[in-house]
Amino acid sequence: MSSTRPSAVVVLAAGEGTRMRSATPKVLHPLAGRTLLGHALATARGAHPERVVVVVRHAREQVVEAARAADPDVVVADQDDVPGTGRAVVCALDALRAVAGEPSGVVVVTCGDTPLLGAATLEGLVDEHVRTGSAVTLLTAVLPDATGYGRVLRGADGGVERVVEHKDATDDERAVREVNSGVYAFDAAVLVDALGRVGRDNAQGEVYLTDVVGIARADGRAVAGLPVDDVAQTEGVNDRVQLARAGAELNRRLLEGWMRAGVTVVDPASTWVDVDVELAPDVRLEPEVQLRGGTRVETGAVVGPSTTLDRCVVRAGATVVRTHGTGAEVGEGASVGPFSYLRPGTRLGADGKIGAYVETKDAVIGAGSKVPHLSYVGDAEIGVGTNVGAATVTVNYDGVRKHRTRIGDHVRIGSDTMLVAPVAVGDGAYTAAGSVIDADVPPGAIGVARARQRVVEGWVERRRAGSPSALAAARARTAGDAPDDDGAAGSTDGTETTRPPAGRDDTHGTPGAHS
Ligand code: UD1
Ligand code: CA
Repeated sequence: MSSTRPSAVVVLAAGEGTRMRSATPKVLHPLAGRTLLGHALATARGAHPERVVVVVRHAREQVVEAARAADPDVVVADQDDVPGTGRAVVCALDALRAVAGEPSGVVVVTCGDTPLLGAATLEGLVDEHVRTGSAVTLLTAVLPDATGYGRVLRGADGGVERVVEHKDATDDERAVREVNSGVYAFDAAVLVDALGRVGRDNAQGEVYLTDVVGIARADGRAVAGLPVDDVAQTEGVNDRVQLARAGAELNRRLLEGWMRAGVTVVDPASTWVDVDVELAPDVRLEPEVQLRGGTRVETGAVVGPSTTLDRCVVRAGATVVRTHGTGAEVGEGASVGPFSYLRPGTRLGADGKIGAYVETKDAVIGAGSKVPHLSYVGDAEIGVGTNVGAATVTVNYDGVRKHRTRIGDHVRIGSDTMLVAPVAVGDGAYTAAGSVIDADVPPGAIGVARARQRVVEGWVERRRAGSPSALAAARARTAGDAPDDDGAAGSTDGTETTRPPAGRDDTHGTPGAHS
């Protein structure tokens, strides 16, 4: 932590950001799970100032709401209709005056559109400012292509003389590659005084904050320029090309940190993590993984390939393959996917399974229980050690309201069971495959709810005469190996037979056909 605490960090966020060509204000575009403004405010707070001030104007309500969500203690300053970064700081100082009296000490200014700037860099800037006894210290960067930035013009002694904006610069000045990063430390009194003398006689007709540099220098005050080695930290986002570039760089840095902390990232180029994701050592991220919204993955778990998890928890040793999950928890050693859709409120117990083409929502599935294939489980509780057969659906919606399904421990739900909620299946109970269960099944019972099968002999040869099916049937009949050998085989007179309903005196085709 810096030895000097700034009295304020002012974050400029009043501009429209026209170069984004967006209905969304520039500073509210997201990067790694935070808005650009959220990044700037987190960095500002990280420098431990007495106050953080945000200057707003364009899309004021939206920006203020986002600012307060990111930092509830932020002081909001409204910029009036005079344009420019200098005017923005005048308005910030007015707001600061109203809550904390005349500004004093060190005031830091940053921009809302510089998401990679780190708090340690701000602290280093303040330390350098204090150490050199400067009135103004600006963070600078030497760029291969300085287009668009303000250029830092130094005198014969190497000291900073002034900053000229790209649009106002001569060709010679544009050849300078040291740029103003838009991040400064000011002596508060010098800043207040100089801003009172900044005009608008420039290419953009704006009050430039950068003019303070030249004014302070002309007053004989010390102005320092501190070049940063890590130039990405100073890169501003003005358009979507820069947004993507900043996003990729931030992601690369986050992943590098996780890899150094013991996480295997098979393909960093296709793996994206938000700033607030938490990964334990020996987590393995396969290619094409996105982890968002504070998702936490515990040790030994494998996520991916091709998986997006938002606000999820994956416990130790679990595997989550080709899955889209939001607000779900996957238990220790459990397995999910491929092709699973976990919606909010899904909680899969230890060693449980959610398999291919399964959608879950508000579903608590107990330890060791399995929903392996082609199912929808919503508004449901399932106990431990239960197996849900393929293509089972909890029918939770009656067209108006949602209802719950309760399934006990060690239950065997037959394939293709419709569980018409509200309904309960007790511990150790079974349901017959293909049943529509709309009444509770007590513990240890089997619920059977399906029509008896009719068999109409010879139907195909009569009604589909000459078809490949009829010919195949005829061949089977003459070969004498028709599947039915109860005496009706070969009959063409329309005899109907029935089989006993499954699950009563035999269990063929009942539960667990898939497990
Ligand atoms: C500014 C600097 C430039 C520097 C660059 C670094 C000035 C005059 N120029 O240029 O020297 O190289 O940043 O990225 O300061 N803002 C307001 N109110 C306004 C105008 C802007 O709050 O009236 C805010 C914007 O929302 C943005 C920040 O100030 O967050 C910078 O504004 P922008 O228009 O992007 O300035 P640049 O042209 O990039
Ligand atoms: Ca900018």
